Amino acid sequence: MIRRLCFIVLALSVGFGNAKYSIGTIITHKNWVFLDKFCFVSEAGNFQFELHYPKSYEIQNLYMYYDTPDQWFAAYNDSLQCAEKERIIDPLNNQIMSLSPLAHFSDPAQCVEYEKRNQTWYNCTGSRSFFSMRPRWWFMAIGNCDSLKGLYLEYRLLMTNAAPNDRLFYHFSFDEFYTLTITMCFMVIALFCLVVGVMFMHMLRNRNMLHATYKIFMYSIVFEFTCLSLYWLHYDRFADDGIGLPFLNPVAMIFRHVSNVLFLLLLLLIGKGYTITRAKISSEGTIKLIVFMTFFIIFEISTLVWEIAAFDPAKVHYISESAPSYFLAASRTVAWLWFLRSCAITVKMYPLKRNFYVTLTFLISFWFLAGPIVMVFANFVLDNWVRAEVVHGVDAGVSAFGFGIMLFLTCPVQNNRYFPYHVRTNQVGDCSYPQNVYEVQYTANPRPTSSSSTLATSASLAEPNLR
Ligand SMILES: *[C@@H]1O[C@H](CO)[C@@H](O)[C@H](O)[C@H]1NC(C)=O
Ligand SMILES: *[C@@H]1O[C@H](CO)[C@@H](O)[C@H](O)[C@H]1NC(C)=O
Ligand SMILES: *[C@@H]1O[C@H](CO)[C@@H](O)[C@H](O)[C@H]1NC(C)=O
Repeated sequence: MIRRLCFIVLALSVGFGNAKYSIGTIITHKNWVFLDKFCFVSEAGNFQFELHYPKSYEIQNLYMYYDTPDQWFAAYNDSLQCAEKERIIDPLNNQIMSLSPLAHFSDPAQCVEYEKRNQTWYNCTGSRSFFSMRPRWWFMAIGNCDSLKGLYLEYRLLMTNAAPNDRLFYHFSFDEFYTLTITMCFMVIALFCLVVGVMFMHMLRNRNMLHATYKIFMYSIVFEFTCLSLYWLHYDRFADDGIGLPFLNPVAMIFRHVSNVLFLLLLLLIGKGYTITRAKISSEGTIKLIVFMTFFIIFEISTLVWEIAAFDPAKVHYISESAPSYFLAASRTVAWLWFLRSCAITVKMYPLKRNFYVTLTFLISFWFLAGPIVMVFANFVLDNWVRAEVVHGVDAGVSAFGFGIMLFLTCPVQNNRYFPYHVRTNQVGDCSYPQNVYEVQYTANPRPTSSSSTLATSASLAEPNLR
């Protein structure tokens, strides 16, 4: 069990380190295997390799394919023979390197013989730059079409996209160029939301208005902030060594999913008026909510599982291209419609809250719909050499937007016309629901203490005709 878990974490973590310093050993019965991929910037991109293998496996070739349908996407096909994969490459384009001391290279690459473990080995080193019209994915493969006993290779690959002192770009594949910057920006924003949220929380607690919904909101911010901190830890380390802490990536993703689930739950509860116009949700409503959230969580988990099951480092693909993520997008849209309906019903029963609900539904609809829209956009419009960072940024941005809206609406200052909470937490047990009794009782017994004077004012402003 633990083994399987380790495998899952490993499989996930491999999926996120594109750019890099890559070290490994290949021992296989196949005679053609994928090594690594990287999105190189034209000219600045540099590929350095050091490859070792025993002479008895000679002559192995290093193949370099680029990202067009007639190159890598044609070559990466199990039904092709090694020789057919080799023939895809134009021999005049320097995309094949014969790893032999006898080979002639156009660039200063070389193979030397040496003795290791009582065997003769080859040590091949060299570096390459790439020239192309646009940033290109390059796929490295190793093969020996004449080999009868498979392949053996110890490799070190260093793939870079800038000068070594250019820390923000050096190790980063082009599709992740701005990931570190984006992560840091949104981490600061999330921290800001967290600090403001904690301040509001204290103010609300002083007024006995720290409701369950606000607590859910705070948890959502905490999870998002943790998610971004983990990403930041990984990418910051990655900027220095090209490896980073890849096991943090799946953990960070899980934290973001939890944050999203909590925020969605929060919105659905608010839509139903929970802690705003009533203290309890009907049992029917609770069941519906539980069923819906269960489905939503299942889709969230299956996108992750799908990513593991279908994961193939030799392909440039994204989680958003999977079937479960279409379900996820669909359930977000359903959640949005349901949210709108709940809000409409709540406003109809409690017209006093119209200000809050109209503003909320208007602004937060973007939060619901951004995910599905971005998914379609990412899958059908964005080029795969920018998609990773755009999707990363938009995910963080949408969360930050949701937090911003909630903080704006729940800001507990005196003249906030949208403030949703007019019921104190210690009144919740007092009355039966769902009825207007709650509000009548509240305004009938205003108990104005010094700390709740603001509340009394805003409440009497909002409910002038209930006395
Ligand atoms: C793999 O190659 C075979 C034979 O050329 C072709 O029929 C098939 O469509 C290819 N598969 C993919 C996924 O490209
Ligand atoms: C290498 O070969 C020598 C002589 O053939 C032998 O004595 C030694 O044990 C071998 N070493 C290894 C590591 O196989
Ligand atoms: C392989 O060759 C490179 C360049 O000649 C050299 O720097 C490196 O130390 C060699 N590695 C081994 C294990 O001999």
